[in-house]
Amino acid sequence: MMDAAEFVKIVRGVVGQGDGFVPLHEPCFAGHEWDYVKECIDTGWVSSVGSYVDRFERDLAEYTGVKRAIAVVNGTAALHVCLQLCGVQREDEVLIPALTFIATVNAVSYLGAIPHFVDSEVRTLGLDPAKLGAYLDEIAEVRNGECFNKQTGRVIRAVVPMHTFGHPVDLDTLNEVCGRFSITMIEDAAESLGSFYKGRHTGNHGKMSALSFNGNKVITTGGGGAILTNDENLADLAKHITTTAKVPHRWEFNHDMVGFNYRMPNINAALGCAQLELLPGFIDKKRALAQRYQEAFASVEGIHFVSEPEFAISNYWLNVVLLDPELERLRDNFLAAANDAGLMTRPAWTLMNYLPMFVDCPKMKLPVSMSLEKRLLNIPSSVTI
Ligand SMILES: Cc1ncc(COP(=O)(O)O)c(C=O)c1O
Repeated sequence: MMDAAEFVKIVRGVVGQGDGFVPLHEPCFAGHEWDYVKECIDTGWVSSVGSYVDRFERDLAEYTGVKRAIAVVNGTAALHVCLQLCGVQREDEVLIPALTFIATVNAVSYLGAIPHFVDSEVRTLGLDPAKLGAYLDEIAEVRNGECFNKQTGRVIRAVVPMHTFGHPVDLDTLNEVCGRFSITMIEDAAESLGSFYKGRHTGNHGKMSALSFNGNKVITTGGGGAILTNDENLADLAKHITTTAKVPHRWEFNHDMVGFNYRMPNINAALGCAQLELLPGFIDKKRALAQRYQEAFASVEGIHFVSEPEFAISNYWLNVVLLDPELERLRDNFLAAANDAGLMTRPAWTLMNYLPMFVDCPKMKLPVSMSLEKRLLNIPSSVTI
């Protein structure tokens, strides 16, 4: 049976670099980043408007295959706007995996809506659509085209699947559940740029979706995010509301709704354009690293490497190993040994339903999320490895 020392040996064997420090996920600037950013500085177009914002939005739409992309300040802001424009209102419930990053839940809370936590499946590490369907059969009913939670009396407006560490959720099954219960799907694709579900990019399945370009993501703009949608009207509205809802005019300042200053600055978009040029190469490298981990852990007992689900091509944003349940009590030994050895390794996020702000939120039984939380480790995943 595997122990912490052997775990360290295997990870080090894959990543190399002597006994040096290996971060979990560091950015890689190996293309035109300097040139494009310098051009912004030289021309003075560093801020709210500029040609790189337009280009980044076009390039993103082309890469992901969606009709429109709107660049914004970060992924959390993107989620906030997606939820608002999909009609999420105060006191609505929004279905969310308990195993996610805080941003998904915060965005729901900004609107005064209530997160309703859903269990995950081991195969994808993401929301379990079959289990959700069975749960809604029990607790929900559709009346006049809206889904009501029979226990709370509130409308269940939307579901936000999150493609955990880049692995796509089972979207066909989820779509079927959404159709049956009149629930809108908004994808949190913050971690899954470069991941495809049945040949179609993640973020191209929901009504609207959010991407993140935070410093630890597959590509980065320093900080940044994007809204994706195939609905031209929603795209126009998203652009409008994220740019203070200003009515276009040469000199007058008129605003026709409460908007946000969520626009991505041109200097960040310049970085994004250069990074996007590198993305296909990054994905190749990340998939090759995942393959090496997979082989290295293949014959080891007590731990297994999480591979992409059969219906997906994953970007392997953060590589994941799962300890067998018998070893979960040793998780912190594994974390300590790896980090002591300079191999940055981290556990899953604390489940959202445990956080003080969300302990009273509705939830289904969460046995898989609870088990995953105790057994999951992220290991170094940079393209520079
Ligand atoms: C699942 C998930 N959702 C949302 C976000 C929010 O993105 P940002 O940090 O750009 O606000 C992140 C990443 O940070 C994330 O991992």
